[in-house]
Amino acid sequence: MLVVEELSVVYGGIQAVRGASLTAKPGEITSIIGRNGSGKSSLVSGIAGLVGATATSVRLDDVELSRTPAWSRARNGISLVPEDRRVFSSLTVLENLQMAATGSKSQQAASLDMVFDIFPAMREFPARHGNQISGGQQQMVAIARALMRRPRILILDEPSLGLAPLVVEEVFRAIRRISEAGQGVLLIEQNAPAALAISANAYAMSLGELRPLGQSARTLTENELMELYL
Ligand SMILES: Nc1ncnc2c1ncn2[C@@H]1O[C@H](COP(=O)(O)OP(=O)(O)O)[C@@H](O)[C@H]1O
Ligand SMILES: [Mg+2]
Repeated sequence: MLVVEELSVVYGGIQAVRGASLTAKPGEITSIIGRNGSGKSSLVSGIAGLVGATATSVRLDDVELSRTPAWSRARNGISLVPEDRRVFSSLTVLENLQMAATGSKSQQAASLDMVFDIFPAMREFPARHGNQISGGQQQMVAIARALMRRPRILILDEPSLGLAPLVVEEVFRAIRRISEAGQGVLLIEQNAPAALAISANAYAMSLGELRPLGQSARTLTENELMELYL
């Protein structure tokens, strides 16, 4: 389980995240919804150790990580797919996946089988380069690459951003399959209805403050949501 207590991010004089606390359980999707600029990316970058943040605690399965560098958090099981995906264009899809593989040769092969099972469409283009595939395909590769690390918590920062509606549906179906396989997922989304529909637990971010939405979140209408978090 990922537990974050009182995490803050300050850029110059601007406080982008104000003492955010959350938990994300294994095998569940926990989502954070909120408007553009509300501090969602800053929060998850702070969790992953990619921006300077102060926190009372960031711990994963009781291992305290708040004072450790990003590589150590990654090694301990925090895997973040950033908004801009960062699929390497000079590498093939297969190479993008292989570079993230961990463990023995047989474990690496099992990880590859697992990500191709989650994204069967990737079997069609393993030899294409990162710049020869569509935005939706890049998102699949970015998520698959993060899964190759066998994380304890997979953090997805707006996976639906800039994708066509049909592709968005495909990505959300894949996220649900990933969670059903036992993977803990922390999902950042502006697409609140789609995120809440697949989430066990949810938070809303507004002006740097994070609030739990509670169990009723799934049944809230979009207007009710707007009132809650704006
Ligand atoms: N590297 C940065 N330097 C300065 N300000 C930043 C930086 N990154 C984000 N911000 C500011 O922090 C606030 C939160 O941004 P962000 O975390 O990207 O929100 P979201 O992901 O919800 O859109 C915004 O006001 C944004 O302009
Ligand atoms: Mg963002």
